[in-house]
Amino acid sequence: METIEIVKNKERQRSLEESQNYLRRAEGLIPCYTQTLSKGPSQFVQGYAPIYLARGEGSHVFDVDGNEYIDYPLALGPITLGHNYPVVTEAIIRQLKDGITFSLMHPLEVELGELLREVIPCCESVRYSKTGSEVCSAAVRIARTYTGRDIVASQGYHGWHEWYATTTERDYGIPKGMKDFIETFAYNDIEGLKKIFAKHPNKVACVIIEPVSVEEPKDNFLEQVREVCDHYKAVLIFDEIVMGFRIALGGAQEYYRVTPDLATFGKGMANGMPLSVVVGKREIMAACEKAFFSTTFGGEALSMAASVATIKEMRKKNVINHLWQMGAMLKDGYNRLARKYSIPTECIGLAPHNAFSFYDKDKKVSYPLKSLFLRETVKRGILFSGVQNFCFSHTEKDINYTLQAVEESFKFIKEVLEGNCLEEEIGDRVVKPVFRNL
Ligand SMILES: Cc1ncc(COP(=O)(O)O)c(C=O)c1O
Repeated sequence: METIEIVKNKERQRSLEESQNYLRRAEGLIPCYTQTLSKGPSQFVQGYAPIYLARGEGSHVFDVDGNEYIDYPLALGPITLGHNYPVVTEAIIRQLKDGITFSLMHPLEVELGELLREVIPCCESVRYSKTGSEVCSAAVRIARTYTGRDIVASQGYHGWHEWYATTTERDYGIPKGMKDFIETFAYNDIEGLKKIFAKHPNKVACVIIEPVSVEEPKDNFLEQVREVCDHYKAVLIFDEIVMGFRIALGGAQEYYRVTPDLATFGKGMANGMPLSVVVGKREIMAACEKAFFSTTFGGEALSMAASVATIKEMRKKNVINHLWQMGAMLKDGYNRLARKYSIPTECIGLAPHNAFSFYDKDKKVSYPLKSLFLRETVKRGILFSGVQNFCFSHTEKDINYTLQAVEESFKFIKEVLEGNCLEEEIGDRVVKPVFRNL
């Protein structure tokens, strides 16, 4: 797909006035200003970054002031093909003319399910919803119903619902007792997981993990988690919300060849339309026949039409290969430039979903340095958040342009660091994490 020529957002030409106007109107109207903490103003350098985006085309987005950016957050991952990608847009329009959501079930629920069963290794049965949080909640409920046990062993991020939120500093509004049912352990810490089973004999219903995030498995971690679950007869759930339809169509379970009992998918499956799914072994998924899992928009047809079109296009064009190529080009180029200019930063993680880490003199995470980098690159037309996703519409030209912006930014940052004036340069415009785990 052709990408459009980026308009060089020269600092003096770039106005963010309309973004600021909307932000003022949102004050007091929308708590935190946002529906998604990671898209809110605290995550981008105010005064430099756009605050509201109006539209997207391919790998580029346009803010409400008409400025153009190459998009790397990609809506936090859902965009796998590109914004307004023709095959998907047409599928949505075709379905729109027939209706959006109905009083009975829609055949797309079956058609999409059959397609998912073809591409996801553990998938024998499916149930849909709208968000990652919902299907992660459903997966845990299914596992508890199936095993008759209560304890959840959790690693990674799984959404805003109560059982997960209680493990974070944003644990407000949740009865204290909820914490008693959740144990957390760190990625690659198999001993930590075993301790949870030892502490709660015959009580652990499931282990829910992000099978891979920016850190990769070591010492056969995934195989070992599988073995522990088999030994204790607990349900193994892979949260593939981010990596599904990104590192491989069937997610980490396909990539690492370790098959969980249940898995959740969401972001990448419908090129931006709100759809998620819990899939898994038929025998375990049958718990849905007893447990309560039902929602009005679960079978909404626009998203399903988009998902069928997205998955078919991804298969036809070998989109996954392209995501790996574009991601590797950015990652390698970034790390080469970081070394060239001696900037304490690196790009880590698997190519299709990678992350920039910034360090201070003590090798701790440096938010001021990250903020200065985000500020300098957004001035040059690159929308970075620090976690990069790639889509089929990203081109080599996009990546080369981006690396040129990174190089110019690094040159400036090097001077700032050599002059010892990082704090002075960035002032209080420092981005912060949206929450910390307890
Ligand atoms: C691994 C993982 N699981 C679950 C979720 C929750 O998904 P949602 O925000 O759609 O509720 C996210 C969201 O970022 C995620 O990254």
